[in-house]
Amino acid sequence: MKLTSLAVFGTAIAVAALTAGSVVLADSGAVSPIYGVRLPEGYRTWQLIAPAQEAAPLDELRAVLGNDRAIKAYQASTLPFPDGTVLVKLAWKHVQSPEFEPASIPGAATTVQVMVKDSKKYASTGGWGFGRFINGKPADEAQHQTCFACHQARVQNHDFVFTRFAP
Ligand code: HEC
Repeated sequence: MKLTSLAVFGTAIAVAALTAGSVVLADSGAVSPIYGVRLPEGYRTWQLIAPAQEAAPLDELRAVLGNDRAIKAYQASTLPFPDGTVLVKLAWKHVQSPEFEPASIPGAATTVQVMVKDSKKYASTGGWGFGRFINGKPADEAQHQTCFACHQARVQNHDFVFTRFAP
């Protein structure tokens, strides 16, 4: 009898905790459509994997950063990347330096893009969840439908990741 009521009580607490958890998730409004990926905390101080540049019309400078698990995987040439790997791509408008004309510098930030490895949760997209953020807000679903297709078409043989570690 006592055990039964304890179990009921325990279940009620677990349900309350779960509900509270999902309220927090749904509340933030900052998760990407399709994948539910969010901007990881503290990503701006993560290690640099490599810079990149894209020509017009986007005309952007970029930097790809990784969390500790990503950096370790790159150092050990681990493929596929292990679960928990997170890659972040920062992008800015490409601007000419006003102080020294031949130099390129970052202008306004354009997008922050995220890839999170979870081989079970994202099994149908190579184990990767995708998120694209503009001013901290997730981009729409149509944009998220393009992510995996391009990464799959071009870098399937490198676990769907373009960026190699710059020495
Ligand atoms: C048309 C091709 C294309 C599409 C679509 C695309 N990407 Fe990428 N992505 C790239 C290329 C190329 C790179 C390599 C870095 C660079 O040149 O900017 C890259 C790099 C990345 C990186 C750094 C890790 C890596 O693979 O190098 C992340 C994170 C990323 N993309 C996320 C996204 C997200 C999120 C979306 C969808 C909203 C997306 N990408 C859509 C081509 C694409």
